[in-house]
Amino acid sequence: MYPIFFSYDSSLISSEKRANTAERLIEEINCMNNAATMQYEDDRASINLPDDKKALKKIKMLVEEKKELKPSYLIVVGIGGSNLGTMAVQEAILGKLYNQLNPNIKVLYADTVDSDLINDIIKIIEPILKKGENIIINGVSKSGGTTETISNFEILVELLKKYRKDYEKYVVVTSDKNSKFWDFSIENRFDVLEIPKKVGGRYSVFSAVGLFPLGLIGIKIDQLLKGAHDMKNKCLNDNILENPAAISATLIYLHRKKDKNIHDLFLFGNGLESVGKWYRQLMGESIGKEFNKEKKRVFEGITPTVSIGSVDLHSMAQMYLGGPYDKYTTFINVKHNNSDMIVPDMKEYSKLVEVIQGKRLKELMDAIVEGVKTAFKKGKRPFSEIILPDKSEYSIGQLLQFKMMEMMYLGFLLEVNPFDQPNVEDYKSETRNILESKKVVTSL
Ligand code: PA5
Repeated sequence: MYPIFFSYDSSLISSEKRANTAERLIEEINCMNNAATMQYEDDRASINLPDDKKALKKIKMLVEEKKELKPSYLIVVGIGGSNLGTMAVQEAILGKLYNQLNPNIKVLYADTVDSDLINDIIKIIEPILKKGENIIINGVSKSGGTTETISNFEILVELLKKYRKDYEKYVVVTSDKNSKFWDFSIENRFDVLEIPKKVGGRYSVFSAVGLFPLGLIGIKIDQLLKGAHDMKNKCLNDNILENPAAISATLIYLHRKKDKNIHDLFLFGNGLESVGKWYRQLMGESIGKEFNKEKKRVFEGITPTVSIGSVDLHSMAQMYLGGPYDKYTTFINVKHNNSDMIVPDMKEYSKLVEVIQGKRLKELMDAIVEGVKTAFKKGKRPFSEIILPDKSEYSIGQLLQFKMMEMMYLGFLLEVNPFDQPNVEDYKSETRNILESKKVVTSL
């Protein structure tokens, strides 16, 4: 278990400026420390998830109970904050090709109301049920009223009912206590797991939202939480220069003030793309705000983008190195991969690309990272760097906790509320109004 390494040497902000601005965060660090003693009563409540032993015990018991059913598939039905964290951790640790590697329990995500996606999921699941194998449906919705989630959940539960009389025992619902979804689940004898009220979707990965599905597919959730716990302590440090979340938030803030309105998270690792997408939601919803805390209309925001190395160098590098000076980049690289691959050192290939003969793929990737960093430096393009020791549960736990606390500090500096999402609610209620005025289609 190794700590994450941070480097801010190429941020193009002087250490003096960084330290002076970061001082402003002392007030918020104090509030954060206070929140750390208050369980789930403060808006910052999610920082206490990694230490919630009671919730962990319940989740682990349910994981074990459902494993007894020997499911071959888990279907996570949820969207946004209710599935992005799970996907991020799963793909980072187990890789994007997890399902193809024949694990005991494969996982599918039913998020949007795309009939083709849901139809494909049914095409996979129905033969499984017919064969007598089991599935677990995990419906996840904090509000309990998200159109997409509830629609997909109903369709999939109806499918399950067709093949299992005792279908209830294959369904687990994760929601706010006493949401409509919660009450419905109790009435229908589904197992329920609670999301603490003050924990918003994008901060919920270390609650039952992430821990139940991840535990079921074999992620070491204790290690994930240990990483999060250790990082939380670092990010509560009031010695600002030793507090990575405070420093990182300060740099993003200072660049925002210099009109760098785009923050690119550039991840060198195929399995890390979903971490990027999770972060995109975290930043988009936490910082993109019409009003500030004083209720003044500000239209605040930094546009989060995600790049994957080295793939996106072949599509975006021209823009990053030649385009406008409107971006601040964070590179994330991994020190040790899980495997080691070597390019053949053979005469017949030597005429192709000469310099790669007999080299490790990791050496090539590291050379690409160094090359990109050098080009960024030459072009005076600011960046910071995070090096993950590996893609273990402990490392990923650290990374996600760091990013969530960074966002809370960034919200403070930008004077916006990083915990609400009023404009997301706008479109949700508009959608419901439109659907209310439509006729019901009962047959296809
Ligand atoms: O972060 C958020 O609040 C949103 O992205 C939600 O997670 C998303 O809309 C899903 O909401 P719910 O979990 O209530 O179904």
